[in-house]
Amino acid sequence: MVHLVQHPLVHDILAELRDVRTEPERFRRLAGRISMLLATEALRDLPAVEESVTTPIGPAPARRVRADIVLAPVLRAGLGMLAGMLEVVPGARVGHIGLQRDEATAIASQYYAKLPPRLDESVVLLIDPMLATGGSAVAALDFLARAGARNMRLVCIVAAPEGVAAVEKAYPEVPIITPVIDAHLNAQKYIVPGLGDFGDRLYGTL
Ligand code: PRP
Ligand code: URA
Repeated sequence: MVHLVQHPLVHDILAELRDVRTEPERFRRLAGRISMLLATEALRDLPAVEESVTTPIGPAPARRVRADIVLAPVLRAGLGMLAGMLEVVPGARVGHIGLQRDEATAIASQYYAKLPPRLDESVVLLIDPMLATGGSAVAALDFLARAGARNMRLVCIVAAPEGVAAVEKAYPEVPIITPVIDAHLNAQKYIVPGLGDFGDRLYGTL
C-alpha cells in the first residue's frame, strides 16, 4: 500500500529539504510547498458528485467533492505540513496528536490529543513527515482507529523501510503516501540519509 510520489517538483523540494545548508525559514516554506503536492496525491480518489454549474455562456457539467476531510498532524513536526495541506483543503477539520520519541529508546509516548468528532465518516490524513521506526505512526493510527476512524491514509516526506514494514504489519489497509523510502535507520533510529531531525530543522531547535 505504498504510493511512491514521483512528481519532479516534489523531488526538487525534497532535495532542498535534505540539504544541510537549508535554514529554518526556507525549510518551513519548502515543507509547506511539498505538503500541498502530497495532499493532492493523497486525496486523488476523493468521492465527488456530478453536478451542473452555469457559466456566463450556459450550463456546464461539474464534479464537486463531497467528503469530510480530517487532517491529523503528529506534533510537533507534522505541524510543518498542516498549513500547506489546508491550502489544498481549506474546509478540512484538524485533529492534533502529540507524540514524542524517547531520545534513548526511540519509543513514542503520547502527551496531547484533540480530535474532531465523527471520524467514522471522514477521510483521515495522518500527517507526519518522518516515518522512521514507525512507532509514532502506529501509535497515532491506533489512537485514530480507537476514535472511530475507518478511512485513514498516512502522508510522510521521508520513510524508512522499517517504518513502512511496521505500518504495513499493523494496518495493511492504510495507504502510505511518500516521495521516497530511504536506505535504513542508524543506531539512534534516524533515517539514513534522511534529512536529520525534521522538528529541529523546522523550528531551529538544533
Ligand atoms: C519525529 C517525527 C515522527 C517520529 C518518527 O518526532 O516527527 O513523529 O519522530 O519516528 P518513529 O517512526 O521512529 O516513531 P519526534 O518524536 O522527534 O518529535 P518532534 O516532532 O516533537 O520533534
Ligand atoms: N525523526 C526525525 O525527525 N528524523 C528522523 O530521521 C527520524 C525521526
